[in-house]
Amino acid sequence: MIIEPRMRGFICLTSQPKGCEQNVKNQIEYVKSKGAIDGAKKVLVIGASTGFGLASRITSAFGSNAATIGVFFEKPPTAGKTASPGWYNSAAFEKEATKAGLYAKSVNGDAFSNEIKAQTLALIKENLGQIDLVIYSLASPVRTNPNTGVLHRSVLKPIGEKFTNKTVDFHSGKVSEVSIEPCSGDDIENTIAVMGGEDWAMWMDALKADNLLAPGATTVAYSYIGPSLTEAVYRKGTIGRAKDHLEATAFEITKSLADLDGKAYVSVNKALVTQASSAIPVIPLYISLLYKIMKAEGIHEGCIEQIQRLYADRLYSGNEVPTDEQGRIRVDDWEMREDIQAKVAALWQEAVTENLEEIGDLEGYRKDFYNLFGFDVDGVDYAADTDEMVGIPSIS
Ligand code: NAD
Ligand code: NA
Repeated sequence: MIIEPRMRGFICLTSQPKGCEQNVKNQIEYVKSKGAIDGAKKVLVIGASTGFGLASRITSAFGSNAATIGVFFEKPPTAGKTASPGWYNSAAFEKEATKAGLYAKSVNGDAFSNEIKAQTLALIKENLGQIDLVIYSLASPVRTNPNTGVLHRSVLKPIGEKFTNKTVDFHSGKVSEVSIEPCSGDDIENTIAVMGGEDWAMWMDALKADNLLAPGATTVAYSYIGPSLTEAVYRKGTIGRAKDHLEATAFEITKSLADLDGKAYVSVNKALVTQASSAIPVIPLYISLLYKIMKAEGIHEGCIEQIQRLYADRLYSGNEVPTDEQGRIRVDDWEMREDIQAKVAALWQEAVTENLEEIGDLEGYRKDFYNLFGFDVDGVDYAADTDEMVGIPSIS
């Protein structure tokens, strides 16, 4: 069976195991090419199967020879249906880590639940003892609070007033105007409940209560800021409130880890093509212009380049971890450079359907999007059969 991308709206329903495996291998090669990082040796990554979390797991394992436990929520393959990409990524990661003699185990299920936390804690107790680094990289539209049983849904909406701006359908390249109604009711509280810091703190409390954090343990969660162009729908919208909460939670966690001399950080990362960011109006147009400019300047990065730089130049450089005046690590520094933002803002004014293919990097956007699902990955023979059921060694 040859697997083709099958799109429904902004979601791709299929994924390609060989392409996912090649993506993981490419990321491993990149990390190795940059040299050893004197980093953590026992690492827990929550949200480890795609995006920034996968890049973190790969950087820990192949940059610092770390033992890793990855937690994620992915669909295994079933007869006639491909797995979700994070499943194939994790299968490939475990295979490569094991080949390299590195401990790698995974937990697949709802990280917000008490059950998955307990299962993960038991695995740490049994195999690793204590953790040096916890990466918190969940991106989810929903969360059931395990204490109240309430299901919260996050929304991506402006606060206070309707927001109108340009957007692009990156498949067709059509630029149009989009209006997003402001949030209402409990939208802000619900978005904070899903994407804020409450669950991160629960994980850290549970790990500490069971004595599973090593002295000096570090934890890092990921955030985004972005430019004024997108702030109505991002940083000053409902999701921004959740990120404010996440960032405030870092200080609370640092306080709670004082006796261990532990520390919690938020790292602000750059805008990248993911399933989530493709679904937010306005953002795809911004990203396609940003990519064009950053590539032209030779400073474009994907998840793996971002996280390798976070580890090598920020967390484990041997110097004090540099932060901004609000205590945040910044690896969005190149995206936010004044000259880059000025160029993006100028292109934004010009962008129309007729010129976007040229002034924006729609091609790069599409390639990154298809790559998320293992399609259009360089070096993969797509004509070859792919009908094996790919399992994750530590799970199946
Ligand atoms: P992603 O969708 O690629 O990864 C999300 C991960 O969370 C996956 O491993 C998924 O399996 C896991 N997950 C989701 N729900 C889960 C659940 N209930 N239980 C267990 N695992 C679950 O997302 P990403 O883009 O890498 O985002 C990670 C973090 O980085 C988010 O906080 C996001 O806001 C932040 N960030 C993203 C961007 C961007 O442009 N994409 C930029 C800066 C910061
Ligand atoms: Na992630």
